Amino acid sequence: MKIPFVKAPIMGNEEKYLLESFRSNYHGGGGKFTKQSQNFIENEFGVGKALMTTSCTDALEMTAFLLNAAVGDEFIVPSYTFSSTANAFASKGMVPVFCDIREDTLNIDETKIEALITNKTKAIVPIHYAGIPAEMDKINEIAEKHNIVVIEDAAQAVNSKYKNKYAGALSSLGTYSFHATKSYSSGEGGALTMNDEKYYERSEFLWEKGTDRSLVVQGLKNKYSWVDYGSSFLPSDLLSALLCAQFENLAQMQQKRKKLHDAYVKTFSKLKAKGLKMLYIPDEIETNYHAFWLLFQNEKQRDVFLKLSLEKAISPYIGYIPLHTSPMGLKLGGGSFNLPITDFVGSSIVRLPFYIMDHEEIEYTCKNLLISAEVALSF
Ligand SMILES: Cc1ncc(COP(=O)(O)O)c(C=O)c1O
Repeated sequence: MKIPFVKAPIMGNEEKYLLESFRSNYHGGGGKFTKQSQNFIENEFGVGKALMTTSCTDALEMTAFLLNAAVGDEFIVPSYTFSSTANAFASKGMVPVFCDIREDTLNIDETKIEALITNKTKAIVPIHYAGIPAEMDKINEIAEKHNIVVIEDAAQAVNSKYKNKYAGALSSLGTYSFHATKSYSSGEGGALTMNDEKYYERSEFLWEKGTDRSLVVQGLKNKYSWVDYGSSFLPSDLLSALLCAQFENLAQMQQKRKKLHDAYVKTFSKLKAKGLKMLYIPDEIETNYHAFWLLFQNEKQRDVFLKLSLEKAISPYIGYIPLHTSPMGLKLGGGSFNLPITDFVGSSIVRLPFYIMDHEEIEYTCKNLLISAEVALSF
């Protein structure tokens, strides 16, 4: 048996909707399925306004435009994240201020944010690692006090909830990913979520190459023209068609993912006493079961686990290289940050394969990963 890190789910109507879009004579951006996906996000997840994008990276870039920040302005971001969370803002000349993470959820440590705020801080960009939302009440409270915008990078948390509210609806701006590695996927894809009306009109201009075409579509103008910055952030309707087939099956997909999650918890709980840590879900969170991680006591144990797992044709993944230690992060001043939890997690974590597996795949994976972990912990 071969167990890859992820496998794209097929829920049933993907081909039908793809063909429908393709044969509709219009499969560019802004078509039927794009609108349907946006409506779904707004209605189902309680988001003020959503725009589909070609990636979470693009959605993050849109938020960077919406901030109107000046070169030299700062943004606070966990170092334990994907490059895009920082790139979107750094590429506009903003300076990353890296924050350490919590030991339990591996999300930004909200107790360490306030000390990093200066008069140049324009944004806090938490991520919801592994589908577990960050401590948003505290983060929003700090942001409000200092008049800073919060941008949720909810790439991994589509359909996760914090205190009964969905990720993407927890601050004024948010971003989703529908990349092939995510729980709900259109291959490449994303969405910008907005919960503050002041961003709504401008976001449409940014979305369509800096033009006010949206006003023509609404019948408010005859001709559109160049009115703002922007890019071609809107995806082909084909991508949204794929996504619509998955949105129809959100709860079912979540339940199927939970099966693997529960099996992992049962398997690895046996090794807690030996010092193995694993994904933790705080009480106030309902997760989408996006991912599962194990945290070993050191890098050697982690590497032994990876090697033994690969020998069984199971493909775990080492996770993020912390941004403050990566080449671009160092160029942007990463070397001056002391982030002990991030450094430790970066060297000792492993993300386990996670997709909708059948019973045999779950059995094979758990049995063999348990053996790998037992051996690894003896190092
Ligand atoms: C936290 C986070 N933000 C952003 C991204 C980028 O998403 P996309 O590939 O949709 O641009 C990822 C990708 O894994 C991610 O994990």
